[in-house]
Parts: sequence; C-alpha cells; structure tokens
Amino acid sequence: MRRFARAVALVLCAFTLTSAARAAPAGSAEKGRQLFLRDGCYACHGTRGAGGAIAGPQLAPNPLPFAAVLMQLRSPAYRMPLYSRKVLSDADAADIYAYLTSIPAGRAASGITLLNLGSMAARQAVSHGKK
Ligand code: HEC
Repeated sequence: MRRFARAVALVLCAFTLTSAARAAPAGSAEKGRQLFLRDGCYACHGTRGAGGAIAGPQLAPNPLPFAAVLMQLRSPAYRMPLYSRKVLSDADAADIYAYLTSIPAGRAASGITLLNLGSMAARQAVSHGKK
C-alpha cells in the first residue's frame, strides 16, 4: 500500500510539476555524467541510464521531471539507496539531470540487423519452403 501511495505521488508529481520540471535548474551534463559514474548510479541504471536487467529502471532518454527525480533521490520508493543532500547536493542532482536529458534515444531495435537475424531466418525458411 505504501508503494502504491508513493507511485501515485510520483505520478502526481510528474503531472503537476511538469512546468517546474521544465524550469529544472540548469546543470552541466558533463559534470552530471561524472557524478552518475562517481556516485554509483551507473551500477544499477547502466552508464547511459538504459536500465539494468534486475537492478534499476531505465532513466533515459526522456527522464522523469526533475522534481520526481529529486524526490526519488531524497526518499527512494523501494530498493534504491537514499542520496541525502549531504552526499549529493541539489546542484549535483541538477547536473545529473542535465546528463540524463542529454542522452539521445537509441536506434529502434527493428533497424538493427543483428537483433533481427532470428526473424530473418524464419522468413527465409518460409520463402524457401522449409516451413
Ligand atoms: C543499488 C541500485 C541503485 C543505485 C546505486 C541507484 N539506483 Fe536509482 N533506482 C534503483 C531502483 C531499484 C529503482 C526503482 C525504485 C526503487 O526501488 O526505489 C530506482 C529508481 C530510480 C528513479 C525513478 C525511476 C522511475 O522511472 O521511477 C530515478 C530517477 C533514479 N533511480 C535515479 C538514480 C540516480 C540519479 C542514482 C545515483 C545518484 C541512482 N538512481 C542510484 C536502483 C538504484
């Protein structure tokens, strides 16, 4: 129930604070990248925020609004360690946010040949009458 309440709060945050998120403090993406690595975010979320298989969800591209990210850092929803202002200032968080925002979307899986070999082989088998 507590998780559900937090999820609702996060969603509300995301919707009601969208304008505040746009006004997220300007940060340095390069410094943010260094902090993301230094403070261990990468270990659970991947070096480019793509998400880990088990550990942490995807953070980029298109990160949550800044207010929601800050809320997760200061009082994590569930398993993530807490990052207080003592270890990660609001300015550091803004830098990390600038880094997350700077990460471009990757190519669609459908456009990557290696990821589609299975279905290509299946199509060939069909067209060669093997199926
Ligand atoms: C030990 C693993 C771990 C580390 C280190 C970690 N996270 Fe997380 N993070 C998680 C998990 C697991 C969640 C899912 C919610 C939860 O369990 O609190 C999460 C959720 C989040 C979310 C919310 C994502 C969403 O879509 O709801 C944000 C934003 C986030 N982390 C940012 C960070 C940042 C920035 C750092 C570094 C300062 C960091 N995390 C470090 C594991 C981690």
